[in-house]
Amino acid sequence: QLMGQLLGMKEKEKKLASYLEIEHCVIISGDVDEQSKLHEEMGRAAVEALDFLLPEGTNIIAVMGGTTMAEVANQMNETLSRKRKLMFVPARGGLGESVDIQANSISALMAQKTGGENRVLYVPEQVSVETYKPLLQEPGIKKTLKLVDDANCVLYGIGDAKLMAERRGMNEEVLALIETKAAVGEAYGEFYNQSGGVVYKIPRIGLQSDKLADIASVMVVAGGKSKAKAIEAHIKKAPRHTWLITDEGAANEILTGI
Ligand code: G3H
Repeated sequence: QLMGQLLGMKEKEKKLASYLEIEHCVIISGDVDEQSKLHEEMGRAAVEALDFLLPEGTNIIAVMGGTTMAEVANQMNETLSRKRKLMFVPARGGLGESVDIQANSISALMAQKTGGENRVLYVPEQVSVETYKPLLQEPGIKKTLKLVDDANCVLYGIGDAKLMAERRGMNEEVLALIETKAAVGEAYGEFYNQSGGVVYKIPRIGLQSDKLADIASVMVVAGGKSKAKAIEAHIKKAPRHTWLITDEGAANEILTGI
């Protein structure tokens, strides 16, 4: 019976990847919305997939923030650096979120868990261009941004548009825009609608979504029925070589629509 279930899941993974037109999907059983504990399993699945994907030798891994990414970090261990030298870099600065789910903290935790290295990127994001432009000339910041540019892997999460706007303390104007323009999801500081069109972008430095096509390993981790729309819309614009690590909650919801 277990074998049957496993085969069934493999079929579903294939079906989802082919529907979303990406290279590979991993689906864990259950729905993280209903059982928060399952985040651990999704994190573990992401780490296993990374172990499969990353080449031997030096790897520069750019990471984003969020609770899902924090759980991916928690599940990492030294196995990942067995034949590799890992360097983790935050793909962005702060975001007005709690410290433990910011990209900086997550990349530091990943380095700690794997015995790898990390760099920090402390550049405020929600400030004017005039304020942050001179910071970009700082040697330390330049160096980290160069590493982000050279990353061969990127790890990130996808959020529900409204939740993310609220969690990031966006102002009333932006909240209203997100509502009227029917944004469904957020990733890379971009709020996008059902067809993947960006309706609002947080001006920010670091990795931009149009660079994904040039990065060898692209992995997105997001699950839960409530994120189904956000995942589907985002993946429409994602490069073909993307790997999606998700759960049945999101997968079933996406697949019932077809
Ligand atoms: O940009 C998307 C968010 O980082 C996702 O956050 O994993 O806490 O839902 P979450």
